[in-house]
Amino acid sequence: MTAPYERRRGPFLVSTEPGRLDRALVHRFLTASYWAKGIPPAVVDRSIEGSIPFGLYHWDEQIGFARVVTDRATFAYLADVFVLPERRGAGLGRWLVECVMAHPDLQGLRRFLLATRDAHALYERFGFAPPLRPHSLMERFLPDIYARGAVAGGEAEKEAAP
Ligand SMILES: CC(C)(COP(=O)(O)OP(=O)(O)OC[C@H]1O[C@@H](n2cnc3c(N)ncnc32)[C@H](O)[C@@H]1OP(=O)(O)O)[C@@H](O)C(=O)NCCC(=O)NCCS
Repeated sequence: MTAPYERRRGPFLVSTEPGRLDRALVHRFLTASYWAKGIPPAVVDRSIEGSIPFGLYHWDEQIGFARVVTDRATFAYLADVFVLPERRGAGLGRWLVECVMAHPDLQGLRRFLLATRDAHALYERFGFAPPLRPHSLMERFLPDIYARGAVAGGEAEKEAAP
């Protein structure tokens, strides 16, 4: 296994070490977020296993998160970026994205995607822009899939279990 990627700034740390993550915190934030409302803990766990997870820490306490789904060669998708509300506005979100973009396995990619409702300004400075050829992009998108409890481990399924 390769050593985790780490960057430090004073008391702050960005680390890709999965064992360091406070998964309960990541789940608590995501399940209340506008984009992953109702996501079950097991799905968050699986998403972390299938990604490069970036934890943002103040000393030992996790205060932010991002993850990248990637083949580490040609393509990546940045998802689930957040900084806890009480820590926002201090440049940490920007630094977290900067650390993601500097990861050695995410260099020379042909395409790096993300979706955001209102944080465009945060990503523009790292070269993200509306799709050059929107007509060529397609998606299969079920935005409220977790809220409907249609995913294994979701609330509706638990309620229906004997
Ligand atoms: C978006 C988020 C990660 C930014 O974190 P942060 O630590 O407050 O960010 P920073 O202090 O580094 O500032 C981010 C920069 O992006 C800008 N920005 C653009 N959209 C923003 C948004 N929706 N929220 C906060 N900042 C935003 C800020 O104005 C700031 O610009 P500046 O450096 O020129 O002042 C944080 O607000 C957050 O967790 N939001 C809720 C989750 C979310 O919406 N995530 C994005 C999903 S794609």
